[in-house]
Amino acid sequence: MNVLVTGGAGFIGSHLVDRLIKENKNVIIVDNLSTGLKENVNPSAIFYKMDIRSLNLKKIFQNHEIDTVYHLAAQIDIRKSLSEIEYEIDVNIKGSVNLLVNAAKYGIKEIYFTSSGGGVYGEQETYPTTEENSVNPESPYGIDKLAIEKYILCFQKLYGFKASILRLSNVYGPRQNPQSEAGVIAIFTNRMLKDKKIMIYGSGEQMRDFVYIDDVINVIFTIREENLDGIFNISTGKTTTVNNVFEMLKKEFIYKRTPIYLEKRPGELMKSQLSYKKIAGITGWKPKFSIEKGLKATAKWFKNNRK
Ligand SMILES: NC(=O)c1ccc[n+]([C@@H]2O[C@H](COP(=O)([O-])OP(=O)(O)OC[C@H]3O[C@@H](n4cnc5c(N)ncnc54)[C@H](O)[C@@H]3O)[C@@H](O)[C@H]2O)c1
Repeated sequence: MNVLVTGGAGFIGSHLVDRLIKENKNVIIVDNLSTGLKENVNPSAIFYKMDIRSLNLKKIFQNHEIDTVYHLAAQIDIRKSLSEIEYEIDVNIKGSVNLLVNAAKYGIKEIYFTSSGGGVYGEQETYPTTEENSVNPESPYGIDKLAIEKYILCFQKLYGFKASILRLSNVYGPRQNPQSEAGVIAIFTNRMLKDKKIMIYGSGEQMRDFVYIDDVINVIFTIREENLDGIFNISTGKTTTVNNVFEMLKKEFIYKRTPIYLEKRPGELMKSQLSYKKIAGITGWKPKFSIEKGLKATAKWFKNNRK
């Protein structure tokens, strides 16, 4: 079985690839290394430095009989989705449609897509947000994630493949790229490690549902093993504020500086908290990492690997 992972040199994608390789899958990666790193690429995978918008994408499907696609490649920065909206649409929508057209043409059997809970739901009146809540994206990034979900569901009907849409909350852990503007935990961790000043946008009381990378990879495999399809929130159902994250990490790094508070940035939500009851009800999956345990593991990895 040949598996294609787009974005396999990135944070979540590289962990997914490692796990697929452990399970003896033949893994093909397509990644343009815009935020991903070559050093993240598992040496047992076949790596193509390629853009998902490329016309050559069809050759990947022609040369490898792809059974399953994990689609993770994306422009993930909410701010950039506002300031460079044409690039955002080009990569996230056109790139994804290019992938889907080829996937359908060459007869894949299943696709997994990493959507964004915060992105597609936006602010809600009640929390935690379930898959039944209305969708109300508040950034081009969120609109594009929702549009890709719709394309996938439409193509699923037209071409009959299985499709799992994973609405992830805020994922964190080893290998998250602190250079990209998304991922407050990686940014704080990296800056504390180098004793650099830290900026917090807004009051720092923004609440996020931080889920640890191992929990995310485990649930993706559970969904596959149980042969499910549909839309699933992947989260912890709990919230932590940005200020809390700062305080907890500060202890890990014995960081002495106080944060610099700047104006809240447009497109950023005050609260994101997703219910994972649907997937828990079907499979019994539950996240195993508390925020304390996950932050410790993340800090340890950055100390050992990014100093
Ligand atoms: N990290 C999170 O908290 C989170 C939350 C919800 C959803 N997601 C989604 O999960 C996926 C992975 O995110 P991540 O956190 O690992 O980010 P990441 O930036 O580490 O990974 C994205 C990967 O896609 C690659 N890429 C970007 N544009 C590309 C293009 N045009 N062609 C080919 N490759 C391209 C990048 O080089 C990178 O390796 C994304 O789709 C993201 O929207 C992430």
